[in-house]
Amino acid sequence: MNGNIAALDLWTQAWDLILAGAGNGDHPFGLTYVASVGGQGVPRQRTVVLRSADRERAELRTYTDRRSIKARELKANNLVSYLFWDPDTRIQFSGHGPTHWLPRTEAREVFDQLPKHGRKAYATQQPPSTPLERADDGLPPDWAELAQQQTDYAAANFGVLVTRIQYADVLRLDREHNLRLTASRGGNEWTLRWIVP
Ligand SMILES: Cc1cc2nc3c(=O)[nH]c(=O)nc-3n(C[C@H](O)[C@H](O)[C@H](O)COP(=O)(O)O)c2cc1C
Repeated sequence: MNGNIAALDLWTQAWDLILAGAGNGDHPFGLTYVASVGGQGVPRQRTVVLRSADRERAELRTYTDRRSIKARELKANNLVSYLFWDPDTRIQFSGHGPTHWLPRTEAREVFDQLPKHGRKAYATQQPPSTPLERADDGLPPDWAELAQQQTDYAAANFGVLVTRIQYADVLRLDREHNLRLTASRGGNEWTLRWIVP
């Protein structure tokens, strides 16, 4: 049975969700799961905030610490996979593509706009994943007393990851008929194909 919907409609709906979720912590697509390939080919995932998205360029952006393990992994393999799920529309979006860092000057402009609490994730004294003797947040002991300007040092650790989606899989669950399509990008052109859900 077919779902009586054009592939382009479901594709557009999926991107509508991505754009609605970007920068919106209350939206199901505002948080996403990002996978990269770690050492020994092990897939590694983590939750990240979707900060912004560009439908035309098929770009997704998130902020991260340049010293993190994911950053190291991206040097060896810059393919990153994003996963989203929206329980209201019952749409899952999974997409991957090559990933690069936004140039440092542009990232610095983003960093400068972050409030002090938003800088915490990039402000640990040692790189993320450094072993500790005891429970500790890794921030300077006097973090609470630091003025905003005194947290500027964290800019060196702050990066914006830009993933240009080149292949995606959209699944829409439905009581009557589940539907699923693949989208592959050649240049700026997308080829959409229904596949068996
Ligand atoms: C709700 C939530 C949101 C998060 N958002 C981000 C984020 O936007 N960027 C980020 O680098 N890590 C974020 N994290 C932390 C990551 O999940 C992960 O622990 C961290 O980036 C280290 O990952 P890595 O060791 O694979 O590099 C978030 C975690 C949670 C639970």
